[in-house]
Amino acid sequence: MSTPTFSDRIERIPASGIREVFDAAGEDAINLGLGQPDFPAPDHAREAAVEAIRAGKADGYTPNRGISPLREAIVDKHERDQGVSIDPDDVIATAGGSEALHLALEAHVGAGDEVLVPDPGFVSYAALTTLTGAEPVSVPLREDLTIDPAAIEEAITEDTRAFIVNSPANPTGAVSDPEDVAEFARIAREHDVLCISDEVYEYTVFEGEHRSPMEFDAGGNVVVVHSVSKLYSMTGWRLGWVTAGSERIDRMLRVHQYVQACASAPAQFAAEAALTGDQSVVEEMTDSFERRRDLVLDGFAEIGLECARPSGAFYAMPEVPEGFIDECLDRGVVIVPGEAFGEHGEGYARISYATDESELEEAIERMSEAYDAVV
Ligand SMILES: Cc1ncc(COP(=O)(O)O)c(C=O)c1O
Repeated sequence: MSTPTFSDRIERIPASGIREVFDAAGEDAINLGLGQPDFPAPDHAREAAVEAIRAGKADGYTPNRGISPLREAIVDKHERDQGVSIDPDDVIATAGGSEALHLALEAHVGAGDEVLVPDPGFVSYAALTTLTGAEPVSVPLREDLTIDPAAIEEAITEDTRAFIVNSPANPTGAVSDPEDVAEFARIAREHDVLCISDEVYEYTVFEGEHRSPMEFDAGGNVVVVHSVSKLYSMTGWRLGWVTAGSERIDRMLRVHQYVQACASAPAQFAAEAALTGDQSVVEEMTDSFERRRDLVLDGFAEIGLECARPSGAFYAMPEVPEGFIDECLDRGVVIVPGEAFGEHGEGYARISYATDESELEEAIERMSEAYDAVV
């Protein structure tokens, strides 16, 4: 048997730190590590997919960019939520926000380039950057765990081609202020670098408001990455999109054509229905996550864990004492070490509270015992 050889790029990507924690947990552990909403997908989205399948509309390839009704629905969404008019041809439907991120990076950066990533930040940012051959460069967050435009600007070198921002953010739950978001767009324009804005948690905001750099983008320096995964609790459908100016879309489409051809047809019909149908599910989910955010923060305060107040998504990132995460695991509570999200995550843990309230209460109790065991 010959020894397989692999690319340098893949060898530089670590296995996900999140998986390691899951593997270490027992089967009946309370899992606060999962990054997905705990709601069913909207009925009308499911029905639209079933109908499309029954009618034989989902058997073949769709256009590379995706079916027109879906792209029209995405255009309407950005008009409604951002007040920005985009051309339906400047949208590509993708296999989740994950593929959208991949397209944005693959089309714009490569060997010798630097990409600034928030640290701690979503695990894919550095890994997908490394896959392109470019170098991810960590940008530390502010003390309140928001992304700091000044830190981004400071980190820009002549090799910087792009920076990634994410609000509401994984793993912190932080929501960027409108002033910061406007700054992201200004920095991209003035330094002529790309701002990749990951907005997949857009609808899960408890305080403040979601704003997008696309609203402030005068120079075509913004690529928006989006997805129905977290908007409508449809992670398994694998449907996202990317939108940007037409030249950028043209280059991203070349990558998409070869790695994906088109997003899954049934999922495209489901996503169109989710975007155009009854939106009450969004409010229901947000209200529920807000209640659970409060429950978790109250619990942390009682335990004595310091935690920046998350204003969105369904994550909290408290500072934790050494040994705490292992003690939690021993008591059947899975939380993710902050360093899984970057070197500046050390000393923190990410808690996903997209879990049943009674389980959260039980988890808090066990975390309290874990805390007492290490301090
Ligand atoms: C910040 C962020 N961006 C993008 C994604 C990708 O999600 P999907 O590919 O399911 O759309 C995730 C998933 O956890 C995420 O947390």
